[in-house]
Amino acid sequence: MTSSFDLLIRNATVIDGTGAARFKGDIAISGDRIAGIGDFAEASAAREIDAMGLVAAPGFIDSHTHDDRILLSDGAMTAKVSQGVTTVVAGNCGISLAPMPCAVPKPVTPPLDLLDSRGEWYRYARFADYLTALEDTPAAVNCIPLVGHTTLRAITMDDLGREASDDEIVLMRAHVVEAMEAGAFGVSTGLAYPPAIAATTREVIGICLPLKDYDGLYCTHMRDEGDNTMESLAETFEIGREVGVKVLISHHKLAGVRNHGRSVETLRCIEATMEQQPVCLDCYPYAASSTILTVDHAQNSPRTVVTWSTSMPEHAGRDLEDIMADFGFSLEETITRLLPAGAVYFRMDEADVQRILSFGPTMIGSDGLPHDEKPHPRLWGTFPRVLGHYSRDLGLFSLETAVHKMTGLTASEFGLADRGVLKEGAFADITLFDPDSVKDTATFENPVSLSQGISLVMVNGVVVRDGASGSDARPGRVLRRSLHPAWSSAESNLRRQKNRP
Ligand code: ZN
Ligand code: CU
Repeated sequence: MTSSFDLLIRNATVIDGTGAARFKGDIAISGDRIAGIGDFAEASAAREIDAMGLVAAPGFIDSHTHDDRILLSDGAMTAKVSQGVTTVVAGNCGISLAPMPCAVPKPVTPPLDLLDSRGEWYRYARFADYLTALEDTPAAVNCIPLVGHTTLRAITMDDLGREASDDEIVLMRAHVVEAMEAGAFGVSTGLAYPPAIAATTREVIGICLPLKDYDGLYCTHMRDEGDNTMESLAETFEIGREVGVKVLISHHKLAGVRNHGRSVETLRCIEATMEQQPVCLDCYPYAASSTILTVDHAQNSPRTVVTWSTSMPEHAGRDLEDIMADFGFSLEETITRLLPAGAVYFRMDEADVQRILSFGPTMIGSDGLPHDEKPHPRLWGTFPRVLGHYSRDLGLFSLETAVHKMTGLTASEFGLADRGVLKEGAFADITLFDPDSVKDTATFENPVSLSQGISLVMVNGVVVRDGASGSDARPGRVLRRSLHPAWSSAESNLRRQKNRP
């Protein structure tokens, strides 16, 4: 019997995302799903792709992004699609584009300006409105949305320099309920950032309480990723326990020369805690970080490069030290002149980065900043860098493990049943790449640069990138959690009613 499919990928080396060893096979696709994997020599399809010599993997899931606005403003998502990414988790580090029922006072408080310094996009009064906009104007990739605690503070409080009052906590909690009902996967915080530093553990717990009813995630850019990392881990775990949900430690790192090597200690603690409560974590594959420019960060960084500056844009891409020398000012004064601004900080230890990357439960997330003038290269290079540099060239882990960290592992942590793995019935989010040549080319000097070796990228059965060219297709969807207790109980109630005589 011969069957016919929409698309056939022939002769691929299949790495299925579960961490299992690769095997040779064909992949048949019908509509938006994988119809089968195996030997389809006798079958035919409207389009056939010969993947001889190429790896077929599940499309990569970028577990940590700030893509909330670019999904709408530039749906091609070239920085991500060109790396083989088919799903992005938006709304991280406490910053989400919604809800935003009122305009935030200008200048927009950093780090909210990481989404856009102009502040003209404040138009989604409810979280549901943002998701509707994403569904009406789809992007090339799927989206897993989070709602940001800093955003909620900004729309609720008149003064971000203090802890929220009980009344404000109740208001923010209502926003969390609205967002979770609409489809958010959880709440993110950015407790290290000025507009959220004053938030106490109690405030965060109070606001996040509704997460339990939705089995939501608590994702956090912790209060401290330097000297007090252990205390911040303890706070994160406490919030997870008190709220009763899984915590996600965002972009785990140890910043500052004093803390180099301490990932031994933090990973030991994280591993031990995983025995007691649900914990997951992600990491980007670079020893330099990037966020807004602050005196505090710059003081603790051996080298700092400015990525953008609203007041003095001509200094984007320059070393802070050189700018200081030109100005003849102190560090504080120089930074004051440049603000609002962003920076790359070379303040991590490569051995820590490799230890965290190779830790079994660590997922890959880019933390790319899509609106920076001279962005950290992680925006364009994260996934090929893990596959090429860290897995193939350094041999840090197998290619199967590398793929698992950006697909199957991530899908299971976020509760996606039919994505992140290649199997019959799963959604056809698929990336074909050449394991011998896959490579990031984005550098700190030249950060906007396409990766090599990504051959074909497909989202929900639709090709969004073929060789060096993107397509106009925008098949991305707002994803829904598979494990949603509120839904499953509603469903079982229905079933119970139906079964009643
Ligand atoms: Zn962050
Ligand atoms: Cu981030």
